Amino acid sequence: MKIPLLDLKAQYETIRHEIEPVLKDIIESQYFIMGPQVKECENAVAGYSKCSHGVGVSSGTDALLIALMAEGVGPGDEVITTDYSFFGTAGSIARLGARPVFVDIDPVTFNINPGLISAKINAHTKAIIPVHLFGQMADMDSVMKFASKHNLVVIEDAAQAIGAELDGRRAGSMGHYGCFSFFPSKNLGCFGDGGMVVTKDAARAEKLAVLRNHGSKPKYYHKIVGGNFRLDTLQAAVVQAKLRHLDDWTAGRQQNAQGYDRLFTKSGLVEKNMVKLPQVRTSRHIFNQYVIRVSRRDELLNYLKAQNIGAEVYYPVPMHLQECFACLGYKNGDFPESEKAAKETLALPIYSELNSVQAQHIVDAISRFYST
Ligand SMILES: Cc1ncc(COP(=O)(O)O)c(C=O)c1O
Repeated sequence: MKIPLLDLKAQYETIRHEIEPVLKDIIESQYFIMGPQVKECENAVAGYSKCSHGVGVSSGTDALLIALMAEGVGPGDEVITTDYSFFGTAGSIARLGARPVFVDIDPVTFNINPGLISAKINAHTKAIIPVHLFGQMADMDSVMKFASKHNLVVIEDAAQAIGAELDGRRAGSMGHYGCFSFFPSKNLGCFGDGGMVVTKDAARAEKLAVLRNHGSKPKYYHKIVGGNFRLDTLQAAVVQAKLRHLDDWTAGRQQNAQGYDRLFTKSGLVEKNMVKLPQVRTSRHIFNQYVIRVSRRDELLNYLKAQNIGAEVYYPVPMHLQECFACLGYKNGDFPESEKAAKETLALPIYSELNSVQAQHIVDAISRFYST
């Protein structure tokens, strides 16, 4: 049995009949840049995220970049963020000439440890970027408390967390900005690169919209320097069509997560401490990834690959140990929880089309590995 980490073809088969006519219409219209579907998609995603404004952009990374640009973040500024995330989070800060200031994670949720934030705040601190890793929201109440006390901007990196909730509050709606990625492997993925910034603040939304189009307003007049960060019409149409299915797909992922929890517990691997299960600490975890902690992680990964089972390490190198950030002066041991997570975590297939036979096959393979 071959089980990929993600089976986008299986998903596409269920929506092909809805998406293809829409794409054909756009191709016929040849309206590829800022067609009406972009605004419709912005309204739909903003509404879904309980925000009043959405600005479609070219990727999740550019969503973060443009939010930082809108706040004028640049050389001399510091931005606090988690040490354990996809590179785009810290990379966006560094690209603007600002300094990423890393904070270790809570070992239970893998998200920024709020208890460690205040020690990092100083006169140069401009913003905080909490990341809602794997589909579970960070402790936003604590983040917002520090931010308002020190007058800092909060940019939620919700690339992996569209639709996640913390006591009924949606990912992207609690900070000043929420940034989404529509990278194909995300829960709401398009057919290429895409992203969006959501906000409840009309003035911020207006600035984002100008920045994404070279800072042009009116056309060919530039008061500020922006870039080409536009979301394609075709991608906006895909996002809009897929959004209608997102809650069902999320429910499928949540059921699969519960299924794994039961199978791993039954296998005895949890009791023997071979496998630690993901812990849900928010009211709606959307399981962009189902990430277990294991011993002998790299050996297990190779074993699963040999068995044709897709698995992946998110992420093998914490941000403070990335070569490009050597200039920041961090060293091994600075963030023990993040370093430990980088050695122990393993993501298993969790897409909604995964069935119980496949899940059992995966858990059986892991049991076999630990019995040898
Ligand atoms: C946490 C996080 N932040 C940012 C990004 C960047 O998104 P994109 O790949 O759309 O640029 C991603 C996606 O890969 C992500 O997972």
